[in-house]
Amino acid sequence: MDKLAITGGRPLAGEARVSGAKNAALPIMCAALLTSQPLRLSNVPRLMDVATMAKLLGQMGVDVSSSQESLTLTAKEIKDPTASYDLVKTMRASVLVLGPLLARCGRAKVSLPGGCAIGQRPVDQHVKGLQAMGAAISIEHGYMHASAERLRGARIVMDLVTVTGTENLMMAAALAEGTTLLENAAREPEVLDLARCLGKMGAKIHGAGSDVIRIEGVASLGGASHEVMPDRIETGTYLAAVAAAGGSVRLTGVAPRSLDATLEKLREAGASIALADNSISIEMKARPKAVSVRTAPFPGFATDMQAQFMALASVAEGTAMITETIFENRFMHALELQRLGADISIEGNTAVVRGVEKLQGARVMATDLRASAGLVIAGLVAEGETVIERIYHLDRGYEALEKKLSSLGARIQRVK
Ligand code: EPU
Repeated sequence: MDKLAITGGRPLAGEARVSGAKNAALPIMCAALLTSQPLRLSNVPRLMDVATMAKLLGQMGVDVSSSQESLTLTAKEIKDPTASYDLVKTMRASVLVLGPLLARCGRAKVSLPGGCAIGQRPVDQHVKGLQAMGAAISIEHGYMHASAERLRGARIVMDLVTVTGTENLMMAAALAEGTTLLENAAREPEVLDLARCLGKMGAKIHGAGSDVIRIEGVASLGGASHEVMPDRIETGTYLAAVAAAGGSVRLTGVAPRSLDATLEKLREAGASIALADNSISIEMKARPKAVSVRTAPFPGFATDMQAQFMALASVAEGTAMITETIFENRFMHALELQRLGADISIEGNTAVVRGVEKLQGARVMATDLRASAGLVIAGLVAEGETVIERIYHLDRGYEALEKKLSSLGARIQRVK
């Protein structure tokens, strides 16, 4: 299995291009299930999760063709509206096929995802919303069996803010009969990007990006072309890397306005940041100052940036409190960071991080996607060599990470 070897201690400098957002590309790919016409997507990141989604859609009969610039998905006919355990267990976002399949075919069989490394991650809100729209859903042998002649619009107040839950219900409602109101909806930019794509396909959606989304169902949707939004978490990861390692970097192909909470915290840590339409420049000259963060749904501080900020806090001047409110078990990187010499104690859902002057390279293990990103940042600042094992987690969500970081001057390589 591949590993990453990083020799730390060098500041980062230069320019790198950010890829399309994984968490926008995955739901948007599922939107292809809603129409028999081709959906042509550009700026799709080359990632393991995207390949897994393409495979899942392919198994249902969706034609997937890719060129250098685009990915075209055509669901002329859906042969089998089933998402099997084999694929769902490797990627929880597979549950995003449930709403579209039900809306298009009137039935779907989707494996329950089960738990995952960062927490329980139930899908009860997805199920509850679809039931409110008239679906019958039963759980048998680990699968959700859903059916509905035609979904009906409904008013749905979600118990908590869920990103893929909002996306699933928005896609289902696009083809339902009548109007759906999604209240307490997720406001994440990826939800808005999906809504924009659905709009181009003919859906009538208002309020995406706010916590109340109104969807007027239409009888059918058509094909469209859509450019996937830039990945705000990839962007934030590179910015945090510069804040930790020092240096001066310009990131292009980014959406600066999706990053307010992260940028605010980076400035607090001492970084100078300049924004342009599609680029962000960051300069970090001194040791970072400790900044505390508390994760929250958008526009709050993203849970997907928490591990990277824990790595930053590990070498900062002062003590930072890192509080995780979204997932109940998203601190596994803390133990690995300790192996690099970080001073972290966990009290409930808060990690108290006392910054040390230096981390020391060691062998560590990646436990999930963003945890891996945190370890990479720690490796970039640690003295000597850090070897990160199980980097298949990184390949799920970061396109060409080691190439991009090498081009910025980092000593990082993949070891077979
Ligand atoms: N939740 C429920 N019931 C539900 C759905 C969610 O209790 O039916 C809970 C979850 O257990 C969690 C909270 O609600 O405690 C929020 O979870 P959410 O549903 O928003 O997460 P998600 O949609 O499964 C997406 C991203 C995650 C990101 C979270 C939070 C995608 C494909 N995934 O997951 O991204 O952490 O939102 O922002 O969009 C990653 O990229 O590394 C990643 C994990």
